[in-house]
Amino acid sequence: MIQYTDELKEEIRTANDIVDVISQYVTLKRSGRNFFGLCPFHKEKSPSFSVSADRQYFHCFGCHKGGDVFTFISEIERISFKESLEFLAERAKISLPVTQNAEFNKNQYLKDRMYKINAETTIFYHERLYKPFAKIAQDYVKQRKLDNNTLKAFKIGYSGEYNELYKFLKSKSFKDEEILATGLVNKTEKGDFIDRYRKRLMFPIMDVSGRVIAFGGRKLENNEKMAKYINSNENLVYSKKKHLFALNLAKQSESKKIILVEGYMDAISLYQRGFDNVVASLGTALTEEQGRLLRKYSEQVILSYDSDGAGQEAILRGLSILENQGCDARVLQMEGAKDPDEYVIKYGSGRFKLLVENAISLVEFKIKMLKNKYNLENSSDKIRFLKEITKILSNVENKIEKEIYIDKVAEQYNISKEAIYAEVNKASYNEQVSEKTLVKQRVKSEEKVKVSPAIIKRENMIIYLLINHFREAYEPIVTNISLEDFKLEANKIIFEKILESPAEESEKILQIIANIEDQDIQSHVSEILVTDYEINSINKCIEDVVNTYNKERLTNRKFEIIRALENSSSLTEDEVAKLENELNELMLELAKRK
Ligand code: GTP
Ligand code: MN
Repeated sequence: MIQYTDELKEEIRTANDIVDVISQYVTLKRSGRNFFGLCPFHKEKSPSFSVSADRQYFHCFGCHKGGDVFTFISEIERISFKESLEFLAERAKISLPVTQNAEFNKNQYLKDRMYKINAETTIFYHERLYKPFAKIAQDYVKQRKLDNNTLKAFKIGYSGEYNELYKFLKSKSFKDEEILATGLVNKTEKGDFIDRYRKRLMFPIMDVSGRVIAFGGRKLENNEKMAKYINSNENLVYSKKKHLFALNLAKQSESKKIILVEGYMDAISLYQRGFDNVVASLGTALTEEQGRLLRKYSEQVILSYDSDGAGQEAILRGLSILENQGCDARVLQMEGAKDPDEYVIKYGSGRFKLLVENAISLVEFKIKMLKNKYNLENSSDKIRFLKEITKILSNVENKIEKEIYIDKVAEQYNISKEAIYAEVNKASYNEQVSEKTLVKQRVKSEEKVKVSPAIIKRENMIIYLLINHFREAYEPIVTNISLEDFKLEANKIIFEKILESPAEESEKILQIIANIEDQDIQSHVSEILVTDYEINSINKCIEDVVNTYNKERLTNRKFEIIRALENSSSLTEDEVAKLENELNELMLELAKRK
């Protein structure tokens, strides 16, 4: 296992400001010392995700995830801690020691070569499209009404006949293993190299930054036996789950919406007709990773799936993935054409724009689907329908939104508003009750630990003081408060780490804590760091907290002595005198502290 030094870790940490890094995934707004946003790790409608710029920590008060920039990256990218280090090193252009990660560097080099091959191939295919032998492709793009600007913008191309790409790439001195790694060329059992894409219309697939990572090739012949599309397989630089076709263009759009379509041709056709905010999924159902990308580059996502193809389940799944990411997701409803490409050609961009504007929300879509299940002329069906829609409506958190839906539903389906309200209120009441019992259960499990919130707050504040005001706090705290005084396990572990380190090193307390590889502790620390303890005077605060502990210790001793004196039969006179003496002193001391 490759181990990176602490110095390197720190260098990478400092080079990656947590607010910058998180901002690439979450929209953050500043409020006081911290930044807030919608938590990317759980579904929420009001922000409980907090990032501290000065402490370089994040914490979610909703799902309790938290930690430093490495924790964030490993959680959100679903990679190991070590990989998050490499990820952030790359982001900050910090080179990692060669000897330490030869394999990582080898991969980097191969990836680099693959990007170069993809770039060269794109130009190769694109230039071929304009040659006389490409007549079949030229006729096809004409028939599909693609203009030259579009061909250029998407770098659309025409692939070779047998092994022309392979020969071309060899002439550019790429190695066989590099070429094979891209999947653009296959090696037969006999050892021949054959291009994967032959005589197809080629669509380069780019990542967000515009680097070509894969290709889609459409057949041009009217041959039923041929696959309509051949797409790149997953490889070192391409994962279809993590990318979206044309996002590199859509991210530059002025529009805050992104239209999500299924086919390359839909995206291209809409782009040509003035919609510069269209992306296509890459032949898979929408994934969470793609949802995150969409959320990052837009405020609203409009699903515009084929009217026949995907089916309602796919739309529902897509919508809920997007909503879970905190996206405002809508469904475009299209009639009279099988897909957006056909629609926009048939009815024009003005009509398509209207469809975009009238796209409906998940709630409306669900209600519409329900409606198809029931015959509203039939009164018992109508009652069942009402029951089902109230279930959907009572899940709408926002009151105003809920009212708007109720009005709409009442009007659209000719149901009395009062009837809907009555049902919705019943349903929400039931839900509230179950939520309350949940909270109770959680409190109960905390009671088991028997640490009162006041003590937790006090202990947390001590850790907070040590982290933020080490110079003032260290001395008085370690001399007056001992490890046994801590009730909360997490605080105990942190305090122990501080005590273990020599004083000058424990000054780097945040670093010490960051090295505790325990998610619960990281989450606990991040909560402390983003909490505002409203401290006016640091010294007064330290004094108060130290006093509290001392007083508590004196009081405990006082009761111990009193109890001992009550059972004084087992004590000698001398011992009794001694205890009484101590008790007097204790009382005096306590009186002074009042
Ligand atoms: P046209 O049919 O030319 O209008 O293309 P389209 O882009 O509209 O494609 P369609 O709606 O049929 O399919 C949507 C997407 O699914 C395509 O863009 C491809 O990514 C993928 N796809 C379609 N057909 C195939 C196929 O035969 N094989 C594979 N692997 N993917 C396909
Ligand atoms: Mn199509």
